[in-house]
Amino acid sequence: MGLDSKGILSANWFTSHLLSFLLIPFFLEVPDHLRSTAVQEYTSFYIIQISTFANQSWARNQGSGWLDELQTHGWESEAGKIIFLRPWSKGNFSNEELTHLSLLFHVYLIGLTREIQDYDSQLQFEYPFEFQMRAGCELRSRDTIEGFFQVAFQGSDFLSFQNMSWVPAPETEGRAQRACNLLNQYEGIKETMHKLIGNTCPQFLLGLLDAGKMYLQRQVKPEAWLSSSPILGSDQLVLACHVSGYYPKPIWVMWMRGEQEQSDTQQGDILPSVDGTWYVRAILHVAAEEAAGLSCRVRHSSLGDQDIVLYWGHHFPMNLIPLAVIAPLVLLMVLALWVKKHCSYQSIP
Ligand SMILES: *[C@@H]1O[C@H](CO)[C@@H](O)[C@H](O)[C@H]1NC(C)=O
Ligand SMILES: *[C@@H]1O[C@H](CO)[C@@H](O)[C@H](O)[C@H]1NC(C)=O
Ligand SMILES: *[C@@H]1O[C@H](CO)[C@@H](O)[C@H](O)[C@H]1NC(C)=O
Repeated sequence: MGLDSKGILSANWFTSHLLSFLLIPFFLEVPDHLRSTAVQEYTSFYIIQISTFANQSWARNQGSGWLDELQTHGWESEAGKIIFLRPWSKGNFSNEELTHLSLLFHVYLIGLTREIQDYDSQLQFEYPFEFQMRAGCELRSRDTIEGFFQVAFQGSDFLSFQNMSWVPAPETEGRAQRACNLLNQYEGIKETMHKLIGNTCPQFLLGLLDAGKMYLQRQVKPEAWLSSSPILGSDQLVLACHVSGYYPKPIWVMWMRGEQEQSDTQQGDILPSVDGTWYVRAILHVAAEEAAGLSCRVRHSSLGDQDIVLYWGHHFPMNLIPLAVIAPLVLLMVLALWVKKHCSYQSIP
């Protein structure tokens, strides 16, 4: 990759110096105490990089670090510094190792930006354009952790790093192949990538799971409520069971009639909340007259075996509301008539 024009950091430094830091034992066993909840819930750590090129002289790199869907790191592009978003975001790495990694990313980003700008016409990149990269590692089974490095160009798969070399994504035109040919000339960088995703990343992932386990293994109970809406032009209702504010993510939400699971229940996507908890909704289409007797059952690790059960009809269904309003009115009228009759009777001399 390109050199910093100020000559502060050389490609030589990039490859040799960093490699010595990255030379760590290759085989990695997942420690027993990590083969627990946290490991099952969280299985990957990766870095997302978005590089935007507006023109020959303007480029921007954004970076972030993720434990599956949980963002743990940010990137301060100007200073070239990692932002630690959680108290446990350093995992078990020392400040020295992390400074080293920050420097590596900084040099990599400067080099990459320069390289892309230098080869823009040769590779037929037309401004403005954007690269997205996702690199990291994933726990596959009890003992295997696999690294990955994928690159997208303008939102489509472009190339990836596999088996020590860069390969174009299927169905890409010659441009991806030319980019791979170019990248594959840099043996040092391939070595570095291989060690970063196959070695440093797994160690970091395991350290992170360990350091964050109090947070990652916490249990937060859900709140649940029901709602309904009529389907226009039919006598059908959509019943919705909302479950929010819970953690961890796995949950079971089902509409029931007595002990009978309603297999038509449709569970929506599980959505994140800003406070790090989750929200999900389960809906059921029913004929209005069949809604009575239905209930929503929620099972979640934070509840132990005390499932939440909400019965439909314990609040007023829509079609009973008129009755609820009319009944007191009728009572009032009866009372008024009775009073009138009673009074007129009494008023007879
Ligand atoms: C390059 O793009 C940036 C950001 O859009 C813009 O501010 C700048 O004027 C552009 N420069 C040239 C030479 O077009
Ligand atoms: C990886 O590359 C080596 C050497 O080029 C080759 O022998 C091996 O079969 C490759 N493995 C895969 C899974 O492609
Ligand atoms: C961090 O923890 C992992 C997993 O327990 C371990 O393999 C690795 O050596 C540790 N790294 C450091 C720098 O202590």
